Formats: sequence, structure tokens, C-alpha cells
Amino acid sequence: MDQLTKRYGSPVAVHDVSFSVERGEIFALLGPDGSGKTSVVECLQGLRVRDGGGCACSGADPQREPAKLRHRLGRQLQDSACPIRVGEALELFASLAPGSVDWRLLLDQWGLTAQRRTPCASLSGGQRQRLFVALALVSEPEVVFLEELTQGSGPGGPAARRGPDPGDPRTREHGRAGRRPTGCGSDGAQTRAGARSRD
Ligand SMILES: Nc1ncnc2c1ncn2[C@@H]1O[C@H](COP(=O)(O)OP(=O)(O)O)[C@@H](O)[C@H]1O
Ligand SMILES: [Mg+2]
Repeated sequence: MDQLTKRYGSPVAVHDVSFSVERGEIFALLGPDGSGKTSVVECLQGLRVRDGGGCACSGADPQREPAKLRHRLGRQLQDSACPIRVGEALELFASLAPGSVDWRLLLDQWGLTAQRRTPCASLSGGQRQRLFVALALVSEPEVVFLEELTQGSGPGGPAARRGPDPGDPRTREHGRAGRRPTGCGSDGAQTRAGARSRD
């Protein structure tokens, strides 16, 4: 990403943000609420039109070449009104992507085997987060976007302990590069790119 700018009307949401993420690297985007993390990630995924700067994700411009990225990106859902069960959701997502991993393995790895027949809408917050991560990984994407990972996970509770950690081998083994935006604090500050780790 090179000098990205994104505006919604006159206020600038993202100003002159540049960074690069190598293959196998976990990259966390940290900043207060409203500082532009989601806007950056949405531009990278081709979900938003940028107002300035350049952007390449997995070798393609997300704005100009969205079709190239369709099967290369994994995105964690923020919410779902999916009226199906956990196992069905994983099976469905796996069926949409060529070369996806065995969804039953992911069910086990993310501690959701007991919830296989549970309707997605009945999951706890932490279970839902784990399902969303498993859904993002099932297509074996080259780049995985994870957002607001700790939402719904109680401190020290099973969801927090089992929740996705970017250093966790389960996250690493499925994603070749990861971006993990998280929010904290109050509105108004600029986005800063932080915490990196390499294999
Ligand atoms: N669709 C939108 N329309 C107008 N303003 C928006 C929109 N999305 C985000 N913004 C504004 O852009 C700024 C950055 O938002 P966002 O990227 O969601 O920040 P973060 O993810 O860091 O909380 C905020 O001031 C927010 O109000
Ligand atoms: Mg956000």
C-alpha cells in the first residue's frame, strides 16, 4: 500500500498510509476507533474506492482487478444472518472455493465440533468469532483479513483462550499473510501501522 488516501465527503478518513506485508507475515493495524483501520482494509479488499495512492494485494490491484482476488483473499465476517447450521456454513463456503481445506478439520481445530449442528444464529459471541475465522480460512486464501477478533470473547474465558491468535500455528498454517485490524480508545487519531511478526 502506497500513500493511500480515503475520504467520505470532506473529512479525510485515511491520509497517506503506506506499508507492505511479506508472504508469511502477520501484520496488525492498530489505532483508536474511527482512525481509519477498516477503511484501509476495505480498500485493500476492493470493497471501497480509494481517493489517492496505490494498492496491491496478492499481486493484484483490488480496485481494478477484483476478479483476480476472489479466491486469494479470506475475510472474517463481521456479522451473519445465515439461517443455517455451523457445519452447513463451513461446507457451503468450502464448496464455493476450488482447493479448499477439509472443513471438518477446521471445525475440530477451532473447537466447534460440538456445535456442528447448532444454528449459526444460536452461537455465543466467542463461538461465532471462531466460526467466522474458520470460514475465512476454509478456501486456503493467500491473504487473510481478520477484524475485531476479541469482540465477543470474554477475558480469560474459553473463547479468549481458543480464539484466533495471529501467532497461533492454526492461523499461520492456513494463511500466508494476515492482516489484523483491531480497535481501541477514542475517535480522532490517525491510523498507525504496528505490530509485525515473521515466521
Ligand atoms: N461509509 C462511511 N461514510 C461516511 N464516513 C465513514 C464511512 N465509513 C467510515 N467513515 C468515517 O471514516 C472514519 C474512519 O472510519 P473507520 O475506517 O471505520 O475507522 P476504524 O476502523 O479505525 O474504527 C471515521 O471518522 C468514520 O466515521
Ligand atoms: Mg473498524
